[in-house]
Amino acid sequence: MDNQRLKEEILKLKMDLHVSIVAHFYQKDEVFELADFTGDSLQLAQWAAKDANPYLLFCGVGFMGQSVKILAPEKRVLMPKIACCAMAKMIDVDYFDQNIAVLEKAGIAKEDILPVTYINSSAEVKARVGMMGGYVCTSSNAKKIITKALASNKKILFVPDRCLGQNIAKEMGLKSCVVGDASDPKASDILCYNGFCSVHQLFDVDDIAFYRAKYPGILIATHPECKPEVCDRSDFVGSTSQIIEYVQKLPLDQKVAIGTEYNMVKRLRKENTYVLSSTKPECPTMNETTLEDVYNVLLSIKEGRFENEIMISEETREWSYAALNRMFEL
Ligand code: 13P
Ligand code: SF4
Repeated sequence: MDNQRLKEEILKLKMDLHVSIVAHFYQKDEVFELADFTGDSLQLAQWAAKDANPYLLFCGVGFMGQSVKILAPEKRVLMPKIACCAMAKMIDVDYFDQNIAVLEKAGIAKEDILPVTYINSSAEVKARVGMMGGYVCTSSNAKKIITKALASNKKILFVPDRCLGQNIAKEMGLKSCVVGDASDPKASDILCYNGFCSVHQLFDVDDIAFYRAKYPGILIATHPECKPEVCDRSDFVGSTSQIIEYVQKLPLDQKVAIGTEYNMVKRLRKENTYVLSSTKPECPTMNETTLEDVYNVLLSIKEGRFENEIMISEETREWSYAALNRMFEL
């Protein structure tokens, strides 16, 4: 089937079967255009959990689909591909526990640690955080959540993105370290797990210097998953939806270079907009989802096979819900 035909078939199946489709900003254009709702990871979870349709097709990465299932267990959540975010894959419960053990060895008692997990983590890691009274955060509310967590007077163990943890610490004038590095964790407020996003690692201070030299007056907007030295030199740092809002408010003749995923930057604004890297910053897992996958999963709903359905055990759901819900309560 060609793309036009596939799209028509998808829209028909979706209507007949009462399926809603949501897509993250990093999805390919042809998938993105089909969605009932598009957004950043927080907006997608909020919208999808309240949506009335019984079936949800989530075009994004695994932890995003899981977040909806945690919030709305009665909903059948399916994904065109169970594509896992590479950063979320950098931590599991064993590695989480090992980090706690390293901190205990350094003289910090487990009771004095409050974990905060970036939403880019598995349901199991979120559940571990939930059991310890901790929070989930996203890139759009990390500062707010960390402010709340710090009121406990405990050390914050921030997982899995060391860059987001370090960037928020800097913004708030706090001390941070990476667990396992040479520094004494007792001297830091935010103890970061050593994970990162390989896509956002591509943006570098040299790219910023290049664009500033080539186009004097250009603005630089980056995602907080970028390295701290990159965020420090940026004019704006924000989540995907915050970057979109920032760029849309700029005059059309204002040049801007953006440090986040390729699909989103290319779609955002045609003129005077640059990708802040000479290497194509495409998220491999976000780009796995194709129109064929969307069609095949819809067909599987029609045939009662329910391919790529998100399943979470009740115990994991309960504890991960506790961590996610603490975020929503704020
Ligand atoms: P946002 O919450 O800003 O959409 O970020 C999700 C993500 O995976 C960025 O790499
Ligand atoms: Fe994960 Fe990075 Fe892809 Fe975002 S861009 S989904 S953090 S691998």
